[in-house]
Amino acid sequence: MSPFLVTRTLPEDATDAALRADVLKGLTEHPKTLPPKWFYDARGSELFEEITGLPEYYPTRAEREILVSRAAEIAAAARARTLVELGSGSSEKTRYLLDALTGLETYVPVDVSESALTQAGQALVAERPGLRVHALIADFTARLELPDTPGPRLVAFLGGTIGNLLPAERAVFLGAVRALLSPGDALLLGTDLVKDEGVLVRAYDDAAGVTAAFNKNVLTVVNRELGADFDPGAFDHVALWDAEREWIEMRLRSRGGQTVKIPALDLAVDFADGEELRTEVSAKFRKEGVRAELATAGLELAHWWTDAEGRFALSLSVVR
Ligand SMILES: C[S@@+](CC[C@H](N)C(=O)[O-])C[C@H]1O[C@@H](n2cnc3c(N)ncnc32)[C@H](O)[C@@H]1O
Repeated sequence: MSPFLVTRTLPEDATDAALRADVLKGLTEHPKTLPPKWFYDARGSELFEEITGLPEYYPTRAEREILVSRAAEIAAAARARTLVELGSGSSEKTRYLLDALTGLETYVPVDVSESALTQAGQALVAERPGLRVHALIADFTARLELPDTPGPRLVAFLGGTIGNLLPAERAVFLGAVRALLSPGDALLLGTDLVKDEGVLVRAYDDAAGVTAAFNKNVLTVVNRELGADFDPGAFDHVALWDAEREWIEMRLRSRGGQTVKIPALDLAVDFADGEELRTEVSAKFRKEGVRAELATAGLELAHWWTDAEGRFALSLSVVR
């Protein structure tokens, strides 16, 4: 079996300074917010995988459709020897790229979820003798130190996860990605597209309630890691479309007035009846907007592919 290496750039203990700082800041500001990266403990990663198979959640199917039909073109344009994937999760769709990239030597999945990285990495090295997998447990919004592997590099950021960053965060993030790339390297970016409001809202508020459970999982993470006493049953899952900013927001709405204690922060947080905590933004894009954001980061959009229904896009930017 080929080697499977895991490098951790995040502290082992999830009660680390980042979680404390995010919870303290997010729950004492108005409106209250929490960053979406804290959804993804082992249970959160499992729930996300379940979401990708839901009838309402079209992005995974649409992106897979593009990868199936375009992987050979992507591989021919990128000619990558190293594939770096940010927010790789289960690496399920990545298999189409791994099949097509015939000269690939090393796959570097990067994720905050150790469980997702370990499961995916072990399966991949067992399936693909000869492929080196060097997983990084890391926050892709922090400074990334990639392993020293041969170029050309293809950096993939799939799933529309870029939409979870706010516009100013996206600009910083894309600039940092550009700084990781050398001439001949490329960025493959998955972006969910603006579409009918009903389709969008249903994708984040499924009939089976899996997205609601995923949303509330962040409260369970804060309970476990910081000793808080959130009652997930005392919050309702809310998904709404902000037409002006063209993003979906997931929120948790307090059922009645309540006070939540967070002993690790020596904090008591009051929620008014109906008060909402924003847990995720998922921006939806248009081609010209994506082109402009890439250009600001010094990246030139070279290819733009969508699924047949025009719901989702993959773009490829090659560094000259
Ligand atoms: C929406 S899921 C997408 C997963 C997969 N790429 C796909 O397309 O199905 C987002 C993934 O990014 C990871 N993630 C979220 N925020 C992150 C961060 N700041 N740094 C690293 N990984 C992060 C999550 O653990 C999760 O695996």
